[in-house]
Amino acid sequence: MDKFVINGNKSLYGEVDISGAKNAAVAILPAALLNKGTCTIENIPDVKDINYILDVIGRLGAKVERLSRNSVRIDASGDIATVADFEVLNHMRASYYIVGALLGRFGNAEVSMPGGCNFGERPVDLHKKGFTALGADVSVSGIFKAKTTLPLKGANIYLDTVSVGATINIMIAAVLAEGTTIIENVAKEPHIVDVANFLNAMGANVKGAGTDVIRIKGVKELNKNINYALIPDQIEAGTFMVAAAAAGGNVLIKNVIPKHMEAISAKLEEMNITVQEFSDSIRIISDGTVGKANLKTLPYPGFPTDMQPIAVALLTVAKGTSIVTEGVWENRFQYVDELRRMGAHITVNGRMAVIEGVDKLTGAVVNATDLRAGAALVVAGLMAEGKTVIRNIKYIDRGYEHFAEKLRSIGADIQRDSDPSN
Ligand code: UD1
Repeated sequence: MDKFVINGNKSLYGEVDISGAKNAAVAILPAALLNKGTCTIENIPDVKDINYILDVIGRLGAKVERLSRNSVRIDASGDIATVADFEVLNHMRASYYIVGALLGRFGNAEVSMPGGCNFGERPVDLHKKGFTALGADVSVSGIFKAKTTLPLKGANIYLDTVSVGATINIMIAAVLAEGTTIIENVAKEPHIVDVANFLNAMGANVKGAGTDVIRIKGVKELNKNINYALIPDQIEAGTFMVAAAAAGGNVLIKNVIPKHMEAISAKLEEMNITVQEFSDSIRIISDGTVGKANLKTLPYPGFPTDMQPIAVALLTVAKGTSIVTEGVWENRFQYVDELRRMGAHITVNGRMAVIEGVDKLTGAVVNATDLRAGAALVVAGLMAEGKTVIRNIKYIDRGYEHFAEKLRSIGADIQRDSDPSN
């Protein structure tokens, strides 16, 4: 396995391009299985999670042609298997979208599911509730099985908890259902809108994505050759914004949708960081001085939970005490032990962390415990005095395209090395 070695305390200057949204891609690529035409999808990030999904789709029988590093053509017009029990699925939390797509088009899906994750159980009861309401028999125990005699039947579905995954999965499955499906209390994240736009580009009739209620009028089939480009990755953009704020400097973050970044921009401004918005880029100017701030993570348009560890890393050096409350996941503060090794003063009580700002972090050997915790340690390493070694970076590779290269291009001293002891 590899590690990152960072020599910290260097300001960041220049421009960096943000890649396509990973969490949109992990849904859109499986959704391409609904189409009898070909889908050419651009701006896909070259990260491990996406390569796993493309591998699974290919093994199911779709023709997957890599057109370039960031574009792919998927042709699911041939025979497609509906049982996915490949070992590769164990590496992928978002494998459940394959269930929605296979169930919607073929009336059958069996997909092996990875277990819980590092920040809490990942229940799929709402996915199950949705598929059942559409007329499927569903069981989940290591393998996510859903079966029906087509067509699925449109239904009214209320989601008890706002869930990104359940919203997208039910939307995907309902596209080919007979009649109208209404999903209430849905998630409104930018990638929900992206998935809906992609489905509509293939010929679906999905309305209301981005609001609390999504209406899907079922269509008989999807059979169009389409080209679609993914939106930029909100969390990658936020990570670079925070990195620039933490290390200090002047960085233009390009290929972003500033509207998607509002909660993050507002919080950084509250911390006295200069945030300048342009039509498709954001400039961060910082002298490395960070004001304290309280924040609570919430579904969009709230402050994203996936930015929580990264924001906490920044607040470790804020002037004063900050309180961060995790409003989405039960157990998303496990990484704070790693920040403490670097000198951070953080106490955690349930879903709340109290962060007393210190003058400086100090480099240390730390372990990435999940994707965003790993990114938080990189941010901490960039502003720390001395050398930081981050182990277990396989997690970071899941979701950040060429992270070290991009950071180096704006002046960071970060190298990837092999870690034979791991
Ligand atoms: C997605 C993101 C993840 C992000 C999360 C919240 C992907 C691949 N991952 O995960 O990075 O942290 O959104 O923004 O897009 N819940 C239930 N029952 C369900 C489903 C979810 O109770 O059937 C609960 C979860 O326990 C959690 C909350 O709903 O407390 C939100 O989860 P959800 O939005 O579904 O997260 P994911 O889609 O898995």
